[in-house]
Amino acid sequence: MTSGGDAPGMNAAIRAVVRASLYNDCEAFGIYNGYQGMIEGDIKQLGRFDVSNILQRGGTILKSARSQEFRTPEGRAKAAAQLRERGIDALVVIGGDGSFTGAKYFVQEHDIPVVGVPGTIDNDLYGTDSTIGYDTAVNTAVEAVDKIKDTASAHNRLFFVEVMGRDAGFIALRTAIATGAEAVLVPEIETDLTDLEHFIERDYNPKNSSGIVIVAEGEKSGGAYSIAEKVAQKHPEYDIRVSVLGHIQRGGSPSQFDRVLASQLGAAAVDALMDDQKSIMLGIMNKEIVHVPFNKTIKHTKNLNPGLLPLVRILSV
Ligand code: F6P
Repeated sequence: MTSGGDAPGMNAAIRAVVRASLYNDCEAFGIYNGYQGMIEGDIKQLGRFDVSNILQRGGTILKSARSQEFRTPEGRAKAAAQLRERGIDALVVIGGDGSFTGAKYFVQEHDIPVVGVPGTIDNDLYGTDSTIGYDTAVNTAVEAVDKIKDTASAHNRLFFVEVMGRDAGFIALRTAIATGAEAVLVPEIETDLTDLEHFIERDYNPKNSSGIVIVAEGEKSGGAYSIAEKVAQKHPEYDIRVSVLGHIQRGGSPSQFDRVLASQLGAAAVDALMDDQKSIMLGIMNKEIVHVPFNKTIKHTKNLNPGLLPLVRILSV
């Protein structure tokens, strides 16, 4: 099952789970439309050819949804009954922390083992260096910002570019470094407007230079439009534009990194279930696959790499 926001590489993970199951002489079923589909019995057996030619495709062939009903014990009981009816005795959930919170309760209440595979472009899951989809999303954002830089430079404009990241600045920070942005604003750090203006003044001159500020969607003072407006009020002489990249970052063919990660984690999820694991997320840390209890990944927050934040400023000197 795929759950929550889709991410490039989810199809590669589905393929890996199905093929590794067959390799281990197990049957595989796809649950469509996330937890809601599980409650409603939207479930189909998948053979090896059902997952042919999907590795390179964005989105998820199983579709994805957020379910209110699964948040209730009654909803989870209906979902468990659907699995039991079909003789399904273990579940792989590809998704983010909301999906794993539901999974944790499901295991406790119904004793059906669940293994989680981290799939979200936001990369905001504790216990894994990278989530499936993050690398591709950053590549998409970088490509877009490179293009924005061309037009910014042609008109000596200051651009505020908003990238995705509801609660986390991973996409923003990496994009900022990879594109040589003047500044980056992330939800994890309160935005100091005076400080930001100081950096903009240093780097941007509307007569002969351009500038890029990357803003994470979840930035606490209101996102790219709000910040741009505040700066424009103080500096009417600036030629400011805002660009919100939005859902373009969620789509597209996964990068080789996400394809390999998804293939490794999908196969490892089947191994973990064969090994009687039942309430864990798989992650990758220092290139090794790790098992992280759901409790731990839900409770803890993954921090931004502290070495990367100052780098944006150092390199834009
Ligand atoms: O969690 C991934 C994410 O893309 C966030 O970055 C973003 O805030 C959110 O999903 C958008 O969700 P939706 O597509 O439901 O609007």
